[in-house]
Amino acid sequence: MKVLVALILLVQLPIHKAVPTAPPPPLGCDDPESEAAAELAVNYINDHSHHGYKFALNRIENVRVIPQGLNHKILFLELDLLETECHILSPTPLENCTVRSFTEHAVEGDCDVKLQNLDGKLSVLASKCHSHADSNEDVTRVCPDCPLLANLNNTQVLTAVTAALNSHNSKTAGAYLKLLEIGRARIQYHPVHLVFVEFAVAATNCSAGEAKANVDACQLLPDDQSNFGFCTATMATQPLQDVQVDCKLYGHQAGVTYSQPGQDTSAGLLPNVVQGFTNHNLRLSHNNPFASESSSSEFPTFVVAAKPVVKRTVGEAAQHDKVARPVGFVPPPPPPCPGRVHHFKI
Ligand SMILES: *[C@@H]1O[C@H](CO)[C@@H](O)[C@H](O)[C@H]1NC(C)=O
Ligand SMILES: *[C@@H]1O[C@H](CO)[C@@H](O)[C@H](O)[C@H]1NC(C)=O
Ligand SMILES: *[C@@H]1O[C@H](CO)[C@@H](O)[C@H](O)[C@H]1NC(C)=O
Repeated sequence: MKVLVALILLVQLPIHKAVPTAPPPPLGCDDPESEAAAELAVNYINDHSHHGYKFALNRIENVRVIPQGLNHKILFLELDLLETECHILSPTPLENCTVRSFTEHAVEGDCDVKLQNLDGKLSVLASKCHSHADSNEDVTRVCPDCPLLANLNNTQVLTAVTAALNSHNSKTAGAYLKLLEIGRARIQYHPVHLVFVEFAVAATNCSAGEAKANVDACQLLPDDQSNFGFCTATMATQPLQDVQVDCKLYGHQAGVTYSQPGQDTSAGLLPNVVQGFTNHNLRLSHNNPFASESSSSEFPTFVVAAKPVVKRTVGEAAQHDKVARPVGFVPPPPPPCPGRVHHFKI
């Protein structure tokens, strides 16, 4: 049904666009131009994130267009994003990445993105984001027994990750894997105690046997041979200790590198920046204050826009509309913001 409505809207849009109008109307959040800008912005955000997961667009909160002159405008977008199941190192394209469900304890991203449209070509100039997990209360209200996100430095989490990686390495016939980062972890207390962890790994130049002889000699492969992967694991502690682990290597991806946040993740397992947090914050990779519209005092045109110059343009537009449209035609109000929710509301 939703798909049908979307299709009908899509089919109708070109008809509305075909009505000749002189000045650019204000952009609505569900306008295809806003959606195109948001898609570019989300891809930019994922391409420039160094840790955690890829995010998908949930809703365009606001869009502002600031004309800069002929064929040049600046766009400010406010976006709501949701964490997907694809790690940032995963080669899976975003459109194939499943958004984390509400009951899996969703993580939301809020981003301000500044773009420019120059001669019809869109590009991202700056991004500023932060991300946070939904509240425990929100999740337990819908799902009282659902496991909740745990801090990444929680001792049970570290124990589960270490046990899972050891278990994988003791059984694999392939390369000996080292931990890159813990992505997320959840702990369930009822009816049995379970720890669910997800972590990114990388292949070393050792086989499991070589690692057993001298693990310190096992190095991550150099950038031109790098092979990243991802593991999910569940650890039960009571009544019996049991670890189920599933690791997949992505294969070498040219140009994809992983930046180690700290000097050494092998000793402490975790860099300081995520100690005490349940998720990798997008802020660490996206922190440009110029991405926000409130920072745009650098644009004198914004001030001019509030002066009578614009009134005259609007007047002209009204006259133009009268000529171009049949008598009695009432132009629809600009589509509102925020736009539609793509996945679910938190
Ligand atoms: C992404 O999904 C499409 C449609 O389901 C499928 O055809 C394509 O093979 C998928 N691509 C990857 C890389 O998984
Ligand atoms: C892995 O690389 C290190 C550093 O280059 C080297 O010392 C070690 O011998 C290599 N191990 C194997 C098994 O090739
Ligand atoms: C996790 O890190 C926070 C912040 O550094 C610290 O307060 C907390 O004690 C740590 N928890 C564990 C289990 O180490």
